[in-house]
Amino acid sequence: MPRLASLQSLYRLCRSSSYLPVASVTQASSCYQQHIRSLETMASDKLKAAEHLKGLEGSVWVEFVKLATEEKAINLGQGFPDFAPPNSVTQALTEIIAPGSNPLMSQYTRSYGHARLVNAIAAMYTKFMGREVDPMTGVLVSVGAYGSLYYAINSHVNPGDEVIIIEPFFDCYEPMVRMARGVPRFIALKPTNKTEGVTSTKDFTLDINELRGLFNSKTKAIIVNNPNNPLGKLFTREELTEIADLCKEHDVICISDEVYEHLVYDDNKFTRIATLPDMWDRTITVCSAGKIFSATGWKLGWSIGPQHLIKNCQTLHQNCVYTCPTLIQEAVARGLEIEFSRLGQPECYFLELPRELQEKRDKMAKILRECNLTPIIPDGGYFMMAQYGHLGVDVSQYGDGPQDYKMVRYLTKTQGVATIPCSAFYSADHKSLGEPYIRFCFIKDDCTIDKAAEKLKAFSKSLKA
Ligand SMILES: Cc1ncc(COP(=O)(O)O)c(C=O)c1O
Repeated sequence: MPRLASLQSLYRLCRSSSYLPVASVTQASSCYQQHIRSLETMASDKLKAAEHLKGLEGSVWVEFVKLATEEKAINLGQGFPDFAPPNSVTQALTEIIAPGSNPLMSQYTRSYGHARLVNAIAAMYTKFMGREVDPMTGVLVSVGAYGSLYYAINSHVNPGDEVIIIEPFFDCYEPMVRMARGVPRFIALKPTNKTEGVTSTKDFTLDINELRGLFNSKTKAIIVNNPNNPLGKLFTREELTEIADLCKEHDVICISDEVYEHLVYDDNKFTRIATLPDMWDRTITVCSAGKIFSATGWKLGWSIGPQHLIKNCQTLHQNCVYTCPTLIQEAVARGLEIEFSRLGQPECYFLELPRELQEKRDKMAKILRECNLTPIIPDGGYFMMAQYGHLGVDVSQYGDGPQDYKMVRYLTKTQGVATIPCSAFYSADHKSLGEPYIRFCFIKDDCTIDKAAEKLKAFSKSLKA
């Protein structure tokens, strides 16, 4: 191992030093990584990863977040705001940690969720769901919505169980199902009667007959993401009713990822599938404080549902995470209490944020159109998919994989604007459906959007010249 240790420290030194030339950093990095790879090849079976991790090594976030950072690109890729969360939570956090404040806020709290937080969540969703949500048995607080999704899937899916996933989907659903040794079955939202000129998420619909064909005796769950990332589609009440009817007919659990629950634009209506007749008892609704409060780094989420489903999620949580950070839970609780007290009023953050985001959405759409990209206008969420094909740029030199991956690398490296390839949100067999699109995130300061616009416009002009 001495060679590995010295390579490791050289690699670390290179990464941390701004004085060493880039070539030395790259050389040390590739030398170290080659060494790690050769050690992995030599490893005995017992030192190898568990079977259920096979094929799950790649992550679109790992590659493209790293690339955006390395290239110091304007980051319209990953979904996080570059502005501050609202005072309702930041002020609370400052008070909670201030000298002389309650020392217990720095200690463990209740495993399934800090009491003040689950009470605030239950009060709020009792209103949203139109039924009593029990704070102790109907709510589980997790490390982000990621945690809740993991629990919902891994505490219910047995090896061989099938889970239906609607494409495009938030990319972690598939690996989470595979880690449970479940079998993902995919169905893509498709543009209705159109191949050219798709400009609205309303053009993307679910073929209910195709969906019906996926349900069978092995189907354990379906994952619905409403509003959808990356498409920004809002499922209509009719579409959700059709999904709900199939769930009831085949006795299937519905995992409803509603992290963008308040981010709905124009006159569109958001329907929670758990509120449809007889759906509460089979639905786990997944939410995110990170998305609600523009504080994605706080990594706090929750699941809401009937006791017989939430208790399974709680069992998994108590044995792997046990409890989430108390300070963050207390601050989110206070924030929810404040926002809930002004629900429906213009200053409520649940209305203020979508108001601001609708303007950003329209600004981004205009910029993209001016740059000869074709955006699909979202009805919800904070992402916009856009077609880039007719720009006609040659991206063949930009690595392996689908065309959209190459396009994103090209734009990040040569134009300094980072985005995300949309084929990442499709299963292996359906990648071609996402390949014509890249995803832009518009929950960014106007300044950031303006800087990106400048670069994209210059790029578009250079193509015309
Ligand atoms: C649809 C969807 N679900 C879940 C998550 C994860 O949320 P969190 O950051 O709260 O874990 C994201 C994050 O982007 C998302 O877009």
